[in-house]
Amino acid sequence: MTQYSIHTRQGLPEVWQTLLRDYPREAWPDHPNFTRPIRKWMGAHVNFRQMAGLLRGQSKEMMDKTLDPARFQANLGHYGHALVQHLHGHHAWEDHRFFPELAGAAPRFIRGLDMLETDHTEMDALLERFSRAGNRYLQLMQMSPDDAPQELPDLMQQSQALEQFLNRHLTDEEDLVVPILLHHKMRG
Ligand SMILES: [Fe+2]
Ligand SMILES: [Fe+2]
Repeated sequence: MTQYSIHTRQGLPEVWQTLLRDYPREAWPDHPNFTRPIRKWMGAHVNFRQMAGLLRGQSKEMMDKTLDPARFQANLGHYGHALVQHLHGHHAWEDHRFFPELAGAAPRFIRGLDMLETDHTEMDALLERFSRAGNRYLQLMQMSPDDAPQELPDLMQQSQALEQFLNRHLTDEEDLVVPILLHHKMRG
């Protein structure tokens, strides 16, 4: 799967775009099989993108000294925790329930689903690094606030990496999965 590593790929590999060509993204909203459960699943992705974007943006604002540290502390505690927890739950469900169901309906895309599962494993390491940087910052804010800013460059780097990774993964996942759902009339 290394040739389709999330660190080097530019989108969903062409070999798995056969259904996407028949069901292009622009046509999804009007398709009769684009049901509420599918919209809800994509809505979770929107939330992940928003939280990751907010954390990355606010880390940068902290570096630029244009954001109130108390506000950042509250947002990092709340959204940082929510993002990590919800992503773990989301991935566990996709790996154990959703992807096996899709693989059963569309076995020709099994290797594509394996690629997405590999992304999840790689993202665990990224989430771990992001959590560690965030927790270090929050602990210093409690115990020694003057030292907390020294953690900001690492935190900004980790939140940037997380956002970039998420955007790639979520877009490729939707491009592979939604056409399968529409074509096989799943989640109706
Ligand atoms: Fe995923
Ligand atoms: Fe997902």
